[in-house]
Amino acid sequence: MANEPSKYARLQIDGEEGEIELPVYQPTEGTPVIDVGPLAKSGYFTYDPGFVATASCDSDITYIDGDAGILLHRGYPIDQLAEHSNYLELCYLLLNGELPTDKENAEFVSTIKRHTMVHEQIAQFFRGFRRDAHPMAIMCGVVGALSAFYHDSLDIDDPEHRRITAHRLIAKMPTIAAMSYKYSVGQPFMYPRNDLDYAENFLYMMFGTPCEEYKVSPTLARAMDRIFMLHADHEQNASTSTVRLAGSTGANPFACIAAGIAALWGPAHGGANEAVLKMLAEIGDVKNIDRYIKKAKDPDDPFRIMGFGHRVYKNYDPRAKVMQQTCKEVLEELGVEDDPQLKLAQKLEQIALEDDYFVKRRLYPNVDFYSGIIFKAIGIPVDMFTVLFATGRTPGWITQWNEMISGPYKIGRPRQLYGGESQRDYVPITKR
Ligand code: CMC
Repeated sequence: MANEPSKYARLQIDGEEGEIELPVYQPTEGTPVIDVGPLAKSGYFTYDPGFVATASCDSDITYIDGDAGILLHRGYPIDQLAEHSNYLELCYLLLNGELPTDKENAEFVSTIKRHTMVHEQIAQFFRGFRRDAHPMAIMCGVVGALSAFYHDSLDIDDPEHRRITAHRLIAKMPTIAAMSYKYSVGQPFMYPRNDLDYAENFLYMMFGTPCEEYKVSPTLARAMDRIFMLHADHEQNASTSTVRLAGSTGANPFACIAAGIAALWGPAHGGANEAVLKMLAEIGDVKNIDRYIKKAKDPDDPFRIMGFGHRVYKNYDPRAKVMQQTCKEVLEELGVEDDPQLKLAQKLEQIALEDDYFVKRRLYPNVDFYSGIIFKAIGIPVDMFTVLFATGRTPGWITQWNEMISGPYKIGRPRQLYGGESQRDYVPITKR
């Protein structure tokens, strides 16, 4: 637990004697947390579907103030990191808790570079997938399968094994992501080039071919690096909680990250960036926006403005602000500032931000609203968008998993509010 209880909450249940005393913990930032653990002995459970009022763990990694629109990694605001730092430095910060010195940074970068290749046999593994498979399906499979290739470092109780696995995952994700794209277009896999930096190398493996030299645009590489940074960690979101839950059983880290990738795939989570582009294509024209806003507001219509709203942010997502700026830079560099989908997105954002329905519910653009437009401009196909979210989120998942495994932890095993039949006797089929 983060600290000693600052006070106690007392729960009195109608018709029962005495009170249940529940410790209240004061976090270094944010909302105080009532520890409901003592309830287990009292014959009651708490009930909170969707974890809307439940902290599932204590953590020192990332903090979000959803009302103020603040995101801190190890205390550093994301906008400062996005402006002054880079993705690998952020990975180091997440994993180790402090920014690296020059020497530590050089060593870390060199270590990551030395792990970028994947086992040669993984290329055979890819060949088992259909060429038209969704790259997220391939990612789930290949990342899970890494435990079959790197079982020399699967002892989760050995900090050195955990360290090597973290480095392997961060280093190999762009390689696997690019391979899943190359496989879908029938081009040869490109080996990583360790003279390039992280984002450059990813773009090279995606868009380079053995036939000609591929020059990576520094603006696009910088944008890619920043996008990875903006996705690096986001405290106990659905995929991270999935990684922790899988990890709490003692499962190996590759299996846990594969579980996280599966959870990320959904359109309410990482799949939203893909869904934004599909939605913009469906809206098609500025003149149709009003109709779609109406649909989004209709409680009987499941349609939602994708890339809008967030469980925690009730203000502008600070990542979306950086993303919007990056989007402008990329489109300028590529000479496509007049991109019709960008115009449509801007108009949609403006109308939604002024609409009473969205204002009242405090629905703002989230990180996924602009990332898809940048990806599209860079030439990344729509079904790769969530793969890039997964690549960027890897240091967060592995750091959160490592934090849990390093301390005392219990298997994650929620209870339920049962609403089914009470016990009854089996009826033979002839008597039903
Ligand atoms: N468009 C229209 N209405 C919305 C939207 C939206 N995008 N998001 C929420 N609402 C409404 C919702 O209908 C509800 O209205 P009411 O109170 O009248 O029933 C109210 O706002 C609260 O919504 P909720 O579903 O209870 O909120 P939640 O915290 O459970 O869901 C969310 C959060 C992100 C799943 C949801 O806002 C959503 O579906 N957004 C679109 C998908 C999206 O962009 N997801 C990416 C999230 S950011 C990246 C990530 O972390 O993965």
